[in-house]
Amino acid sequence: MKALIIYVSIHHGNTKKVAMAMAEVLNAKLAKPWEIKPEELAGYDLIGFGSGIYYWKHHRALFKLVESLPEMREKKAFIFSTAGIDVPFINHRKLRNALRKKGFEILGEFSCRGWDTNGWLEKMGGINKGHPDEKDLERARRFAEEVMNLREKYL
Ligand SMILES: Cc1cc2nc3c(=O)[nH]c(=O)nc-3n(C[C@H](O)[C@H](O)[C@H](O)COP(=O)(O)O)c2cc1C
Repeated sequence: MKALIIYVSIHHGNTKKVAMAMAEVLNAKLAKPWEIKPEELAGYDLIGFGSGIYYWKHHRALFKLVESLPEMREKKAFIFSTAGIDVPFINHRKLRNALRKKGFEILGEFSCRGWDTNGWLEKMGGINKGHPDEKDLERARRFAEEVMNLREKYL
């Protein structure tokens, strides 16, 4: 099974840690959205899309890539994020809808807290310092295993 993880991590590298933990399990290639040509996705069986949450949604570069894609015909995908306030039901909504609109089938979603010093939070040292921590990363690895098992059922 060939897996690709496309991610953006601009604030503290929080999401990069999660992406790397998942990539290890999935033996996935890691890439930024701006490094990917739309036609490249055809070569993968499973594609992860993740970033920090910036103003209640994923990074705009992910949306730009997804919008540039052709119809994906039930291509298997997963979504992940790190956020100051970990509410994936809200934070993932826009990307979930954008991926479904392109025909992706979303096999699972992962999120955890991430160190956040945005705006006024900086003055108090931020929130979620130390996250993602080893426990969060272990959860990310287990999630990746589950998604991989689900994907292999389709092969
Ligand atoms: C410009 C900006 C906007 C943010 N907006 C939100 C937000 O709307 N909701 C939230 O829970 N966290 C928000 N955060 C916190 C980040 O989602 C959190 O720190 C995340 O772990 C950053 O991931 P990264 O280090 O991979 O970029 C924001 C951070 C920044 C820098």
